[in-house]
Parts: sequence; C-alpha cells; structure tokens
Amino acid sequence: TSIDLIPHDLPKPNRVQDRREPQPEGPRDGFRNTPDSAPSIAGNREWATVIRSRMEHSTLGEETLAQHTLRTLDEVDAMVADALAAGEGWRALGPDGRAAILHRAGDVLEAHRADLLEVMGSECGKVIEQGDPEVSEAIDFAHYYAESAQHLADVDGATFDPARLTVVTPPWNFPVAIPAGSTLAALAAGSPVILKPASQARRCGAVLAEALWEAGVPRDVLHLARVEENDLGRRLVSHESVERVILTGAYETAELFRSFRRDLPLLAETSGKNAIIVTPSADLDLAAKDVAYSAFGHAGQKCSAASLVVLVGSVAQSERFRRQLIDAVEGYAVGMPWEATSRIGPLIGPAEGKLQRALTELEPGQRWVRQPRKLDDEGRMWTPGIREGVQAGSEFHLTEYFGPVLGIMTAETLDEAIDIVRAVDYGLTSGLHALDEAEIARWLERIDVGNAYVNRGTTGAIVQRQPFGGWKKSSVGAGTKAGGPSYLFGLGHWSDAPVRT
Ligand code: ALA
Repeated sequence: TSIDLIPHDLPKPNRVQDRREPQPEGPRDGFRNTPDSAPSIAGNREWATVIRSRMEHSTLGEETLAQHTLRTLDEVDAMVADALAAGEGWRALGPDGRAAILHRAGDVLEAHRADLLEVMGSECGKVIEQGDPEVSEAIDFAHYYAESAQHLADVDGATFDPARLTVVTPPWNFPVAIPAGSTLAALAAGSPVILKPASQARRCGAVLAEALWEAGVPRDVLHLARVEENDLGRRLVSHESVERVILTGAYETAELFRSFRRDLPLLAETSGKNAIIVTPSADLDLAAKDVAYSAFGHAGQKCSAASLVVLVGSVAQSERFRRQLIDAVEGYAVGMPWEATSRIGPLIGPAEGKLQRALTELEPGQRWVRQPRKLDDEGRMWTPGIREGVQAGSEFHLTEYFGPVLGIMTAETLDEAIDIVRAVDYGLTSGLHALDEAEIARWLERIDVGNAYVNRGTTGAIVQRQPFGGWKKSSVGAGTKAGGPSYLFGLGHWSDAPVRT
C-alpha cells in the first residue's frame, strides 16, 4: 500500500497544560517558547531600548528581497527547476547531516534574535513582548525537527521519501515562527523548499531566510520567492512539480489554492474561532488574566486567540471576574511597537469589513463592557473591546475576526457552554478554566478542537509539549500537527503505512 498523508488520527484533543501538574521536560533543557521562560529581550531594558530605536526606520531584509523578486512565469519555472535539482544532494546528506544544519540554524536564529525582533516590529507591528517568545518558538522548531528527522528512519517496515519540492506559504501574524517551522520541517524531512512570505511580512521572511542560509542551508535548497499574489503566485503554488504546499492562513485561502489545482498536496492550518469557558470552580483571577492575554495579545491577530469567553452559572454575575478582566484589559496600552509603553501594536492594516463592524457595531441584545476606540486616522490602532450579551447563533458567536474584540456569552451549565463552543465551524484551540476534576474530565470528553488547554490561555503552543493544529474547518489536507511527532510524516510519501500505536 502507499499512503500519501497521515489522516486526522488523534482520538482526543492534544493534551493540555494544566498548571497544577509538573510539566514534562523537553530535550535540550526544555523548549522555551513561553513568556515565562523564553530568553528575554523584553525583560532586558537596555536591549529592548536598542531594538525599539532600530525598529522605526528599519529596512532590514529589503536588499535580500530585491534579489529574490520573481517577475515572469519563466522565472517561477526556473526557480522550481533549480530547487528540484538541488533536492538530490539535500536528501543525500541523510537525516544526521540535515539535523546538524538544523541545530546550527537554531543557534543562528538565537544570534539574530535582535534583528528578528526589529523586523517583526517594524514590518508587522509586533511588540517585543510578543516577538520574543516567537523567536524562541522558531528556535525550538529548529532543534525539534532536527531530532524528528532522525526518527523518520525509525518507522518499522515503511520507507519514507520526502516530497521532491515543498512550497511554504506562511501568514503575516507569526512572521518568523510559522515560516521557520514550516520551512525547517520540510528541510528536515529532506525536501527542498521555496518560501513565499506573506506580502505583509516579506522582510521578516527575508531576514529568516538569510539566517537559515548562514546556518548552512544551501541557497538552492532553500529559495526565497518574492512573488505577487497574481498569476505568478498562482503558478508557484500550483506548479505540477510541487509535491507539498504548507499553508497557514484563512480557510478561504486554502479553498482558493485548491481551486488552482484540484489534487494540490496541501497541508493547511486555517482559521479559528476560539473560546474559553470559565466555571464557578475556577481560579477567577487567573482566568481573567488568561482570557485577556488570549484575546488581546498581538491585538487578537492570532488563529489561536480567544474571541469568546463563556461564563458558566454564577460566574456570569461575578463582579470579581468582570473587574479583573477589565483591569487586565486596561493594562494593554496600544501604540507603535517602538514605544516602550505599548503592549499592543497596530493592526496589520486598517480594520475593514467584518472586523470594522465588530469594532463598531453591536447586534441586538449586546452591550459594550468596554467600547473599542480608534486612536488613529488610518484605522489600525484600536483599544481592546469587550461586548456582552452575545447570543448563540449570532454573527459574533460564529465568525472569526482576527482583531482586538472579545465577546462574553453565558450558559447555565458546563454542558450548555460546551454546546456553544462546539457550534462553531472551526476547531483550533479551546480553553477551560475550572479546578473541579469532574468538570475537566467532562470538557475533555466533549470538546472538539485540536489544542485544548486547561487553566491556561489559548495562545502560545509550545513545540513538542503542545503540538499545534486544528480540527474541522481549522485544517485542510492532512491533520498532523506542527511541533509534534508525526508532522514530518506528512511531508513525503510512504512505501508502506507506518504502524503506530
Ligand atoms: N502556534 C500559535 C499559538 O499557539 C498560533 O498561538
């Protein structure tokens, strides 16, 4: 038999970080993408000041992009041919040879932490507090996939052939960690890569590519493609020589890609509409803090962000929870990332369409707990908004907005709250704040998302500890999870299906 991709195969959501349990150790002293443990420039005032001063007028990456701009269909075809030709040498290095380069990539990324933070802030509006753990995540991916590559050879009775060419199309909201993770995974598996950064995050992609080349990834094995999203971009993603397309983006983009080529070998992590449930057994102070961070970190522009909080029973009337939530949200000062006080930067573009409506209009029965205020003419700077009275089945309940607005819903019972969460089309992340064991067990039994978190926020999955990926309309193509043990399995072909228990 021959299978191409590993199907959705996890019977239960990926567990779960419960703060009351000791945390598993990762290799190399544990992975580091947590605000608490990441090597921190945010926590180093002198460094942070230097980087902020560089952000405002940064041009990092521009020169590289100029050299890697594709202007004609022939240039696209030539890049594809060049990458394909480089594949043989890259595969011949073997898992150990590739792993050595990937480990080095982790070290080079660490050495370029400041550059990466500079370009993320300058190009994408990312504040250092958000960018810092993102760089750590990219580094974690390098070391983790280096180790995973060595395991590909271990699968009993099956031979793995890497994709002959992988195209990586990452989003702008994690402009370093996601392109790094996707690219490094494909490289680890033995596939050459063409990386096409999101148009809003091209300089980030260029600085990342420079770091990977510096680490020893050959320039013909990793290509950077600055290509417009027109016929040229379409040719690149739908080229018949491309054997994998790793997309992270909107569900609609995955559908668009599929419309280019019906048998497109797509691995896509797509949209989310995520909720945190808070029950009366919860530590309400912790819950409020986690909800605020999950909703408003990076202005809510994360597929993993919590856009709803569902308050169960007496929590709906809890003054304490409300007060704590509002206090936490008021701590999120909005400003440019080069201003030291900013905790939320500007949106990637002016709020328009459904996001603009979500920031300015209420549906029947809803009230503002905290009304968003627009701080600039362009419409990129908004104070965080909280609305309550969101009804089951309303537009706000079911729509992904990707911006700084949170909706409060209420339920009589935990099961009713779970029904509310399950009603959305997406299944990416979900949170429960509860200390009652029976409630936790019930929620885990019923929740239908890829990443389920107990007594923790919904963002910032940690490589290896919380492999990341969605169910339902949050994933298209194979459902394997980034930063998890089977991710590389989906980046090639198997002569026989691996048997896994
Ligand atoms: N992996 C990112 C997170 O967990 C999207 O927030």
